Amino acid sequence: MCGIIGYIGKRDALPILLEGLRCMEYRGYDSAGVAVISKNAVTCVRAKGRVALLKEKCLTETLEGAVGIGHTRWATHGEPNERNAHPQRDCMGDVFIAHNGIIENHQPLKDHLIKKGHKFLSETDTEVISHLIEEYDKKEKDFPKAVRLALKDFHGAFGIVVLSRKHPGVLVAARFGSPLILGIGKEEYVVASDANAVLPVTNRVIYLNDGDMATLSGSAYEISDFRNGGGTQKRKKTTIEWTSSAAELGGYPHFMLKEIMGQPQSLRDTMRGRLLSHEGTVKFGGLEPFEKRMRALQHITLAAMGTASFTCLIGEYAIEELAGIPAKREIGSEFAFRSSTVNAESALLAVSQSGETADTLNAIREAKRRGALTLGIVNVVGSTMAREVDGGIYNHVGPEIAVASTKATTSQALLQIMLALYLGRLRGMVSRSEGQAIVAEMQRLPKHVEKILKSKERIKVLAKKYKKCEDFFLLGRKYNVSAALEGALKLKECAYAHAEGCSTTELKHGPISLIVPNLPSIVVVPRDALYEKNKSSVEELKARKGPVIAITTEGNKELEKIADAVLYIPKTLEMLTPILAIIPMQLLAYYLAVERGNDVDKPRNLAKSVTVE
Ligand code: M6R
Repeated sequence: MCGIIGYIGKRDALPILLEGLRCMEYRGYDSAGVAVISKNAVTCVRAKGRVALLKEKCLTETLEGAVGIGHTRWATHGEPNERNAHPQRDCMGDVFIAHNGIIENHQPLKDHLIKKGHKFLSETDTEVISHLIEEYDKKEKDFPKAVRLALKDFHGAFGIVVLSRKHPGVLVAARFGSPLILGIGKEEYVVASDANAVLPVTNRVIYLNDGDMATLSGSAYEISDFRNGGGTQKRKKTTIEWTSSAAELGGYPHFMLKEIMGQPQSLRDTMRGRLLSHEGTVKFGGLEPFEKRMRALQHITLAAMGTASFTCLIGEYAIEELAGIPAKREIGSEFAFRSSTVNAESALLAVSQSGETADTLNAIREAKRRGALTLGIVNVVGSTMAREVDGGIYNHVGPEIAVASTKATTSQALLQIMLALYLGRLRGMVSRSEGQAIVAEMQRLPKHVEKILKSKERIKVLAKKYKKCEDFFLLGRKYNVSAALEGALKLKECAYAHAEGCSTTELKHGPISLIVPNLPSIVVVPRDALYEKNKSSVEELKARKGPVIAITTEGNKELEKIADAVLYIPKTLEMLTPILAIIPMQLLAYYLAVERGNDVDKPRNLAKSVTVE
């Protein structure tokens, strides 16, 4: 939520800031702004709406200078307008700040500062930071010290970048609960919420930790802990392996389509080097040190939010089926409220694309407090979650740019089944030959997905047919309840359609009263043990004149006589079915969004990474 960036060096800051904001726009896109120090003045330009509008506005201003900050916003406090856009400033227009997060105690601090004569111009919680720094700066000659003193007064989560007209040779950045990456170039530094925004300048980075404050001048940097007197901290430099071209459209009209179509490759990348065909198992380097503990596990909680949490419904079943360990999905935000039995004999598996979702991070921290082993399936390398869990598994699918998750989703689902197989083999619950058969099916997945993607033109036609429908049901059973819930979320976030996902049988317990001729249901009906029961549900829907799009196994022509449309997925293992069944739903959501003229990659009101509770 919100992307922040700061640059100090020898180059013109503005193009670097604008390009960085463009890369981070998925984090929030209701307003944007930049502030640049040139000579002895700070020029600040802000715009309601997208970074492209800000860029246009910047053309009419003189913004030359080698020190600057920028922000792209997802509003929390104060409606999205120019006044509430960042950078926010102090009374004198000396201190400018870009902030990601929430200052929970902003109101008492604001009241205190107003009594001291400070004038506030916005409704944001952020503005209090600039005024408090202004207050400390009056007493301190040392600007970083003034920032440090102010930071100690805040409760909540923040990543900040701050500059001051009075101290033009310094940029200060700090984090507590919101991600921040420091890029180290040659006599230039860039700091941002996302590595993609740093990459146009350098691939040498430091992932800052909570409590870190980086003081940057054009020729040096220092990292200190703002919480304990500012003592210097040593942090490891890392080289980012991917290039910023991974975040380009590559000829596709939208990132969402590029990412859907890229799933054969992203699934291959997820499995690469991990499947041991001969042993019928999986190898995860990051889990090796915990083998002994994993052999003795009594329980696993899977914690995540949104799409990631729907994939945990697959993990839950698979872990119980293959490893015989009781497993329970928990919505990340609710985990801490439960007096659950999570203890030293349990593991908490956190699943997150960004690795920065506040609610999932809280679940990890709570599980640690209870003594559990913490594991993570995370896509973003170096993210907070990746660094906080005891044992991590990376998705390796590269940057996912569209706000609606697709390639990370299928990778998360696959990794959970791979983990279940690994645990099953480790604990002697799955024989070598059973494991070999599962591994072989996993290896076939990319080809299966390629085949499904070929039906995209058919799905486009269906999207045209149903584009006026405002409500949808998405239904499935067992492993495919996950696909139904995820398909419904895709329709909500991309097509802005009301969609409900649930177990096919649950329909009869109430929701079926909603079925009318313009309420389509998308039903996953694979040729498996539950086929006849699922087929009956399709009949029940049709008996009530509800249109049905059935997703079934290749070769099963029977449903063509009953359903309004049938989409086919190749035959695979029951537990792998949702990875295939979700693909037509992703495509349908995509084409419906296009038909309805929605902003596919940046749906309204959303941000890709939800870093506040
Ligand atoms: O980064 P995370 O995987 O932790 O994000 C969790 C959810 O916010 C995310 O999956 C969200 O539901 C997506 N918009 C779904 O497309």
